[in-house]
Amino acid sequence: MGFFQRIRAWGKKSAPATAASQGTAASLAPPSKAGGSKATGIAKETSSTNSKAMPSPNLASGHDLRSKHSPMTASGKVTLRCPQPDSTSGMGFEELYKLKGVLGSGAFSTVRLGYHKSDQEKSYAVKCINKQKLTEEDTIALVEEVAILKEFDHEHIICLYDFFEESQMYYLVLERMSGGELFDRIVEKHFYNEKEARDVCKILLEAVGYCHKNNVAHRDLKPENLLLVTEKDDGIVKIADFGFAKRVTAPNCLSTQCGTPGYVAPEILEGHSYDTKADMWSIGVILYILLGGYPPFIENNDQKKLVRKIRRGD
Ligand SMILES: Nc1ncnc2c1ncn2[C@@H]1O[C@H](COP(=O)(O)OP(=O)(O)O)[C@@H](O)[C@H]1O
Ligand SMILES: [Mg+2]
Repeated sequence: MGFFQRIRAWGKKSAPATAASQGTAASLAPPSKAGGSKATGIAKETSSTNSKAMPSPNLASGHDLRSKHSPMTASGKVTLRCPQPDSTSGMGFEELYKLKGVLGSGAFSTVRLGYHKSDQEKSYAVKCINKQKLTEEDTIALVEEVAILKEFDHEHIICLYDFFEESQMYYLVLERMSGGELFDRIVEKHFYNEKEARDVCKILLEAVGYCHKNNVAHRDLKPENLLLVTEKDDGIVKIADFGFAKRVTAPNCLSTQCGTPGYVAPEILEGHSYDTKADMWSIGVILYILLGGYPPFIENNDQKKLVRKIRRGD
């Protein structure tokens, strides 16, 4: 498939979602000093992938999350962070959890508020994924998402408590972020001042540095996937949505064109092989948006033009 065909195929899936289609106040006009000539502010964009289908994975529920979530204390006593009983008990998701309202949704999932039936005080974010909507490659990506989150332990990366595979659905029981998406906070505040942007960026660099040290590229960093811990604080974020995350086993070993158009690095658009460094481009785009309140590359309805602008750094 030639370059333009590839981009067209990609564009079909990932046309930027408008504020209206997302049902949120999701756009922000650039400040007048920008000359008012730029197209309107930030809008939520859908992630997409352009890779070829791959063999079906073998996805088992009740992954052994205990190793990460059961640290040994100095006294040698095991403290369980995973709500008990958990998926390894053989009990189904619906036996153990109660689902409530919707916290958010993405291209692949609906994330709902959830409570473990043994403790109604503590809430979780449960990422609910309908199996029927997944292609084989989406399922492979989900296996990777679960495996990576299971291994990771960082204060600014969302914690996965448990994972269930049911007949129709997959459920990821995640640490709940009460502050919502950084995206909505930027829209609300219009932009962050330099100190605030620096603080968010520092956290982001630390968390992404942890991913990269562990040889994982996130590949879909954007304000929709950065979640604020509380409603009150604008600066403490955690990285979520490892749906496109991939292990990097050697320099430039990745080739799948995926991500979200406005945030994707030029080397990915060029069809070159790439690695963890592609995430650094997305961090640059996020920092630009934080400071200005609008994205560096804007082309509302013409994906090809957007791609051209990003490739040129225009
Ligand atoms: N841990 C969480 N706490 C609160 N809200 C969440 C959490 N995880 C996800 N969400 C909400 O759900 C949305 C979709 O989740 P995400 O993991 O990005 O799914 P997708 O892979 O479908 O994009 C997020 O953008 C956010 O609004
Ligand atoms: Mg997402």
